[in-house]
Formats: sequence, C-alpha cells, structure tokens
Amino acid sequence: MKLKHSFNPSVKDGIFFSLTSDVFREIVTHLYGDKISRILVCYYSKTETTEKMAEKVREGASSIGTETEVDLREVGEVDVESIPNYDALVLGSPTYYGGPAAQIKELIDESVTHHGNLEGMVGGAFSSSSNTAGGNETTIIALLEALLIHGMIIQGSAKGDHYGPVVVGSPDEKELEQCKKYGARIAELVEKVRD
Ligand SMILES: Cc1cc2nc3c(=O)[nH]c(=O)nc-3n(C[C@H](O)[C@H](O)[C@H](O)COP(=O)(O)O)c2cc1C
Repeated sequence: MKLKHSFNPSVKDGIFFSLTSDVFREIVTHLYGDKISRILVCYYSKTETTEKMAEKVREGASSIGTETEVDLREVGEVDVESIPNYDALVLGSPTYYGGPAAQIKELIDESVTHHGNLEGMVGGAFSSSSNTAGGNETTIIALLEALLIHGMIIQGSAKGDHYGPVVVGSPDEKELEQCKKYGARIAELVEKVRD
C-alpha cells in the first residue's frame, strides 16, 4: 500500500521525525489494516469538568490494547463528516436544564447526514452536573436516545453508573475512575462487535 503523506525529517542534534496525527493514523492503518478500532470521544465543556471526564474516558479506552486508537475532541473540532470513520462515538456534555448542551445537540442534529449509515456502531455518553439529582441521568439518556435512533449499540452497566458515568460538582477520584472504566468497557465492546 502506498502512503499518501511523505516524511520530512529535519536534522537538529540528530534526526527526528515530525509526525502529524493524520500521518500517524496512516502508518498505523498501513501496518494493522482493518484491525484498528477507532473511538471518538467528543465533548463540550465550559468550566472543564466534562473535559476532565472525557480525558479519563480516553485513558480507559486506550488502556485495553495497542490496536485501539482514541480521538479526544472538543465538539467544535469535530467534523461531522468524520463520524462514520469511527467504530464508536462517545458523547460527553454538561447537564444544562436537565439535558445536553446546545453545542452537542447541534452535532447530533448535523449527524442526520449519516442517518442509516451508523447502524452497529458502538455508542456511549457521560455527563457532569452541579446537583446529584440535577438531571445528569436525563442528559445521558437524551444522548443515548439519539445514538439509538442512529442504530448504535449501547451497553449499560449492572454496577456503578448504570447509564454512563456522571460527575457531580468537582470530580472526585471515584467518579474519575468510573469514567476510566467506562472508556475501557466501550473499547472492549468495540472489540466484541468487530469479532
Ligand atoms: C446554562 C446552564 C444550565 C445548567 N443546568 C443544570 C441543571 O439543570 N442541573 C444541574 O445539576 N446543573 C446544571 N448546571 C451546572 C452544570 O451542569 C455543571 O456546572 C457542569 O459540571 C458544567 O460542566 P463543564 O465544567 O464541563 O462546563 C447548569 C449550568 C449552566 C451554565
């Protein structure tokens, strides 16, 4: 297979290669072909709580094997056209009036261009809120509903956070651990679905 990008090594105290993530993706695809699982963790966060959760979800999803590639992106950086390139889409949003932030809803609405083409993809969601019963679960459910309408596969949990991880106020260690475990479960589900 021929790679699209060429390498431009620069010499300074030895040779080092400057690789963009696109080039890295190409190399990995070249080496592993279709065996690579790709997970997109897409979040909106104004005061960084949901962002901290997203980082932990990414960490967990990356922890299960070398053949999983996880992209962590703020929603404004996500090109809706890229969504079908992934095996899993995990959405994270603060709870705003018991539902997802408008920025995440906007991406969901734009994803209508892929309606019918995302069947069998793995989906997941997480949310942060100020209050324990402030609507974090209704936010997750709203996100999962949209992913189900796309035909995605959602796995609940018998233990811990049943629908997806939540953080209330400032994240504590236990909540961040739930996010990490969730990421790992998503990656494991992708592996099962792809088998
Ligand atoms: C417009 C707005 C609406 C909110 N609505 C709720 C709510 O319904 N329930 C709740 O518990 N917290 C609510 N909050 C608090 C946020 O959900 C909470 O601070 C969240 O952790 C912020 O996430 P971020 O740090 O990722 O931006 C709201 C905050 C804003 C700005």
